[in-house]
Amino acid sequence: MDRCLPEAQQPPHPGAPPEEATAGPPAESDKIASSLHSLQKFVPTEYASYTQEHYQFAGKKIIIQESIESYGAVVWPGATALCQYLEEHSEELNLQDAKILEIGAGPGLVSIVASILGAQVTATDLPDVLGNLQYNLLKNTLECTAHLPEVKELVWGKDLDQNFPKSTFYYDYILASDVVYHHYFLDKLLTTMVYLSQPGTVVLWANKFRFSTDYEFLGKFKQNFDTTLLAEYPESSVKLFKGILKWD
Ligand SMILES: C[S@@+](CC[C@H](N)C(=O)[O-])C[C@H]1O[C@@H](n2cnc3c(N)ncnc32)[C@H](O)[C@@H]1O
Repeated sequence: MDRCLPEAQQPPHPGAPPEEATAGPPAESDKIASSLHSLQKFVPTEYASYTQEHYQFAGKKIIIQESIESYGAVVWPGATALCQYLEEHSEELNLQDAKILEIGAGPGLVSIVASILGAQVTATDLPDVLGNLQYNLLKNTLECTAHLPEVKELVWGKDLDQNFPKSTFYYDYILASDVVYHHYFLDKLLTTMVYLSQPGTVVLWANKFRFSTDYEFLGKFKQNFDTTLLAEYPESSVKLFKGILKWD
């Protein structure tokens, strides 16, 4: 019931210069070196202030570096609800080795929990969020997951054919938490959910419902996906839906 990594093997802070990986037998240090290499692919996210927030899911203490300076650098209520659902239903969802893509992953809590539960995870978001996302993923999954999660840029509706060709990329689950709020990209978000769904793909979308536009999006979601309400969390106004793309 502890954090995944001893302090000496923590990945560097996003703003820090890269370090050499030294600890562990060759295979492990290769793994760490390659993860640190992937960290360097992203421009460090520079927020003026950070906090370290503690969560507990799937038997692990998870520490997320957050900053109130970006929507994508704080954990939203939909994320904790989705994590709770994943940990309570991991066997039923068959998460072991499942291929998962998270859209709008933000600081990464959902992707971390899915990784700890055994899934092969790709966490995606806008470019400026990726440094902090990668930092949190590495900090919480190195040496305690079967599959190290990946981080990729995915701007809703943009270059999906080029960046995620259907012949190469197949996902069992698309995860999304609190991606529907007051913004101008709701149609592109829906297009992305539809694009990433292939036969057998399940979308799990958790959202705090606040605005009439949230319900308008739900209406459009239901037009495109066979939709089931899986859970409701009245204390946070979060609803969790399962969607399977309609093929007719
Ligand atoms: C409210 S935050 C939710 C973050 C995280 N899923 C959670 O629940 O804690 C919305 C996320 O969607 C991302 N986002 C917003 N617009 C986007 C777009 N056009 N393309 C890709 N991601 C976007 C933001 O960067 C942010 O990480």
